[in-house]
Amino acid sequence: MPGLAPSIIAADFGRLADQLALVAPYADRWHVDVMDGHYVPNLTIGPMVVETIARHSSLPQDVHLMITNPAETWEWYAKAGAARIAFHPDATDDAGALLQTIAGAGIGPGIAVNPDVDVDSIESLLPLVDHVVVMSVYPGFSGQAFLPEAVPKLAQLRAWADARGADVEFVIDGGVSLTTAPACVEAGADLLVSASAVFGADDPAGVAEALSRLAGVGA
Ligand code: DX5
Ligand code: ZN
Repeated sequence: MPGLAPSIIAADFGRLADQLALVAPYADRWHVDVMDGHYVPNLTIGPMVVETIARHSSLPQDVHLMITNPAETWEWYAKAGAARIAFHPDATDDAGALLQTIAGAGIGPGIAVNPDVDVDSIESLLPLVDHVVVMSVYPGFSGQAFLPEAVPKLAQLRAWADARGADVEFVIDGGVSLTTAPACVEAGADLLVSASAVFGADDPAGVAEALSRLAGVGA
């Protein structure tokens, strides 16, 4: 199901519920960026915010863990109401086991793939994932420039999944805007994540609507 997942990281947290309501008509899910100040040089939000969002919106939440200990803490987010949880495979000893554990809890398991990670090195995990978050920035901050090398990587992953008839959703995350989204959709992105292009816009709803329409073009 193609669509848009606004990342709340660029929302105004002083009026989070209003910000969600503004773009919810064009959103398919929320993207929740969890950063721990260790895996990335930034600290953001934890399970309390997932609980808060769940009180204000019925849209499913995708939690993107940019943390050093996903195996120890993923369950906090599951209990808080996450529908899917993605982690960076280099942040855990046994990514395959963690994917299976998350799936066993009824949560969609995903991996997030940094720009310098080769497709070959994660191929063995693909049969175990519900979704892959292809990073088009180095994780840590919203508002960074889109890295175009993510586009061929996305196409390569999509080709891998299509060749095997694998049911994997491809998510593109980082610097996604009205300018960069079309190439992502063409390369096979199912879900566009966008933070600053949406919440930093004068008209967040208008940008969300346009991105959501662009995502549908590739369907
Ligand atoms: C990067 C995060 C992204 C990012 C998106 O560390 O995983 O979700 O904040 O922000 P924009 O859309 O502003 O690049
Ligand atoms: Zn993210």
